[in-house]
Amino acid sequence: MTSLVPNARSHQIEESATLAIAARAMQLRAEGKNVIALGAGEPDFPTPDGIARAGIRAIEQGKYRYTATSGLPQLRAAGAKWLAAAFDLHYAAEEVLVTAGAKPALHMALDTIVEKGDRVLVLAPYWVSYPALVRMADGVPVIVPPVPEQDFVHTESQIAALAQQSGAKGMILNFPNNPSGAVPTRSQLEGIVGAAEKHGMWIVSDEIYAQIRYDQAPHVSPASLPGGRERTMVVTGFTKSHTLTGWRVGFLAGPKRVIDAAARIQSQVLGNACTISQEASLAACAEPPHEEIARRLPILDERRCFLVRQINTIRDLKLAMPNGTFYALIDARALCARLGIDDVRLCTQLLEQQLLATIPGSAFGAPGFVRLSYAAPMTDLEAAVMRLRAFVDEGAS
Ligand SMILES: Cc1ncc(COP(=O)(O)O)c(C=O)c1O
Repeated sequence: MTSLVPNARSHQIEESATLAIAARAMQLRAEGKNVIALGAGEPDFPTPDGIARAGIRAIEQGKYRYTATSGLPQLRAAGAKWLAAAFDLHYAAEEVLVTAGAKPALHMALDTIVEKGDRVLVLAPYWVSYPALVRMADGVPVIVPPVPEQDFVHTESQIAALAQQSGAKGMILNFPNNPSGAVPTRSQLEGIVGAAEKHGMWIVSDEIYAQIRYDQAPHVSPASLPGGRERTMVVTGFTKSHTLTGWRVGFLAGPKRVIDAAARIQSQVLGNACTISQEASLAACAEPPHEEIARRLPILDERRCFLVRQINTIRDLKLAMPNGTFYALIDARALCARLGIDDVRLCTQLLEQQLLATIPGSAFGAPGFVRLSYAAPMTDLEAAVMRLRAFVDEGAS
């Protein structure tokens, strides 16, 4: 028997729960079943033509060689300009690192600031990868339980109490939030940043959905608030707003001393983000900010309102109006209680019996909830609501 086995750390990293459901949905589809998949977090719009063409042009012009590992200098500068125009965030070019998407940006950020054994607050509901990313940086994730009764936004005192109790050195924020769609007000965020300041914590702020907001909900970055800039690393990009999902490019912005350190790590583990995608991102930065999203928002908004209207007419399900992203986090606690099952079983039964793929809230630290993505055509959402209603009315087995 071989003693060459994967190390202990790799065993702490589970496969993403969202991938397991997606795999089963794909299997059912391959068997010819008409599965409606509302699990994935990928916009159903194509990459805008001008951006895609910039990528094609890059290949035609031979711009496919290595770049500086921190990114094309002109893209770092364009990224800084875009952050200022779109979000009023002011960074110099050398304070913006070009990475291969938001996920590597989070990884570089956490690897840069977390010391071995440091505790990092992860506010539930959280994006599935945060706990694993903290562990990979040799930190210890401290899950802050969700507060559905507060529209999923924690108060200053709730964060401060946990920071005090755990001695946390940092926290991960994600607004607009995947999966809840929560967008805090400026004063709520000021409270959260205040707690971070009081307890000397870093903030890793995942703002990958910053452009996808409804009803004039503001986007306030913690880095723009008093006491925020020096402790915040901003993760953002065009992945979700412009469907640069498969292109793999994103930004990490923060004070120069931490960006320099993150850049050193990136230079050893990643090298540069895909050169062609960096050229495409230059085109994205050159667009007037919010122009593409202004085309998409009315469509997403119609879907959002449809779901809220319909889901709330289904027995034992509740859905509060999400303020951002393209996710709906359905409160299925009453349904789970009535059926005597948990959210994982609920989602499994929904997939097996009604061929509807969703994600259990447990994957995001919110048991009893179910996440739907409405980055899907209206016909799919209509069918999904019918299947959900049929499941609830006809009874689950
Ligand atoms: C909150 C959040 N952060 C980061 C990511 C990863 O984004 P990227 O594809 O740019 O790595 C996702 C993707 O689903 C996400 O939902």
